[in-house]
Amino acid sequence: MIQDYLKGQTQLINMYLEQYIPKGEPKILFDAIEYSLKAGGKRIRPILVLESAKTLKEDIDIKNFIDIAISTEFIHTYSLIHDDLPAMDDDDLRRGKPTCHKQFSEAIAILAGDGLLTYAFELISLNKNLSAEKLLKIINILSHNVGIYGMVGGQAGDILEDFKDIDFIHLNKTAKFIQACCQIGAVIADATPEEEDKLKNYGKHIGIAFQIWDDLLDEIGDPSKLGKKVNKDKEKNKITYPSIYGIEKSKEMAYNHINQAISYIKDLKNPQILIQIAEFIVSREV
Ligand code: IPE
Ligand code: IPE
Ligand code: MG
Ligand code: MG
Ligand code: MG
Repeated sequence: MIQDYLKGQTQLINMYLEQYIPKGEPKILFDAIEYSLKAGGKRIRPILVLESAKTLKEDIDIKNFIDIAISTEFIHTYSLIHDDLPAMDDDDLRRGKPTCHKQFSEAIAILAGDGLLTYAFELISLNKNLSAEKLLKIINILSHNVGIYGMVGGQAGDILEDFKDIDFIHLNKTAKFIQACCQIGAVIADATPEEEDKLKNYGKHIGIAFQIWDDLLDEIGDPSKLGKKVNKDKEKNKITYPSIYGIEKSKEMAYNHINQAISYIKDLKNPQILIQIAEFIVSREV
């Protein structure tokens, strides 16, 4: 079962992540960072870095680039801390625990997010196993896709009431980061330009489906499983897939993206896990 496999991979990521948790002063800043990193989470982005690389090179040594994978979880955790702030989605619960700003303070949550984002790139720069050329490419892919031309741009669209382009929002706030994780796995595994492109497209389509499914879970999910409140999007008047297309049509659109994603990678060397991850994304309850 892919769920069991993913559970194992989540544990593996958690084990490595522990070694990379930054320590320092002022203690409350580092406590907030550790609190948010350890609150839980599926770790799907680092898993996608590893699995995308393994799809091209089955016996690649993940120890050589585990820090790169971990850095994506640092960026993701930063994005959740800031997403939950009162000025953004104003959420009190994340990963089954009080959000960072509730547990600490708004100022500390902002700084913990800033710190995680910056430290992620410091971590990448410290990798001793990949070439400088590869590391620069990884930094470029990540910064482009989580910054103003990616997640930050998408988050801006998300909170602007007069911004109605749902496809822009989903592509930018969620899919581009996931796409970047898959592309980075490809770069690490010495992909040909064609293979890199396939993994990029796979990531883009599972990424769009991931956010459609997240929107659906906000309407029909179980909050005790999700570890976050539901019906928040409606309360905040967000445009989401279900708000525009309804539940059934949204599901169908998510499945279509998953099929497209699979069509890009099914002829790669070892696509089985990526295929199952794609299917998991549109069947998950968390
Ligand atoms: C939630 O991401 C935010 C979105 C981009 C939809 P995840 O569903 O990956 O959250 P965790 O990391 O498992 O908590
Ligand atoms: C979050 O989207 C996307 C990010 C880039 C963090 P949501 O706002 O829908 O995520 P949840 O539902 O709070 O996890
Ligand atoms: Mg949001
Ligand atoms: Mg939110
Ligand atoms: Mg959501």
